[in-house]
Amino acid sequence: GVEAKIAPSMLSSDFANLASEAQRMLHSGADWLHMDIMALCPKSYNWCSSYREAYLDCHLMVTNPLAYVEPFGKAGASGFTFHVEVSKDNWQELVENIKAKGMRPGVALKPGTPIEEVYPLVEGNNPVEMVLVMTVEPGFGGQKFMPETMDKVRALRKKYPSLDIEVDGGLGPSTIDAAASAGANCIVAGSSVFGAPEPAHVIKLMRKSVED
Ligand code: DX5
Ligand code: ZN
Repeated sequence: GVEAKIAPSMLSSDFANLASEAQRMLHSGADWLHMDIMALCPKSYNWCSSYREAYLDCHLMVTNPLAYVEPFGKAGASGFTFHVEVSKDNWQELVENIKAKGMRPGVALKPGTPIEEVYPLVEGNNPVEMVLVMTVEPGFGGQKFMPETMDKVRALRKKYPSLDIEVDGGLGPSTIDAAASAGANCIVAGSSVFGAPEPAHVIKLMRKSVED
């Protein structure tokens, strides 16, 4: 079986108050904190170091993820998810390095990338531990969920019953059932959680959808 992991995306938080925003989400029942990393910005990994008690689910939306393994490992990242589109030649080296730094490796794919491209990374003798299926084009929060990406989630779940499958982009009360019934168990949510009058309520509702 797979466990529900609800991961508020810090990209939608108030950046001037990252620490209290993180606390607010953890107190609202968040399992993980999702961090979108777009550049080697010292702020992002310094901030990681101050949040070692939380599971930091880092999504590297960069073209050279290998260069980030060492600094993010030092900073205390928990999950390190790189994109398959930029790692065709070095994913084995990446996975080894991520594990050596004590992080959980994950692989992400954009809406236009076929699901078959991640199969070798899940099946190898040094496999990734999570697949992140992007449900919007990467870049920013607040975009519309793309239901057609659920075919990929269904295919993955059928093949790998106990794999962590994460979805990212446009998730909230109106889209969670589609994602959960397709087989996603790790749910990233930015605007729907941070914009809610009661984040705890939205987090609870999404957890229930995954667990039912
Ligand atoms: C998109 C990011 C997401 C984003 C999600 O590039 O990877 O994590 O913050 O935000 P919402 O939930 O608002 O679509
Ligand atoms: Zn993300």
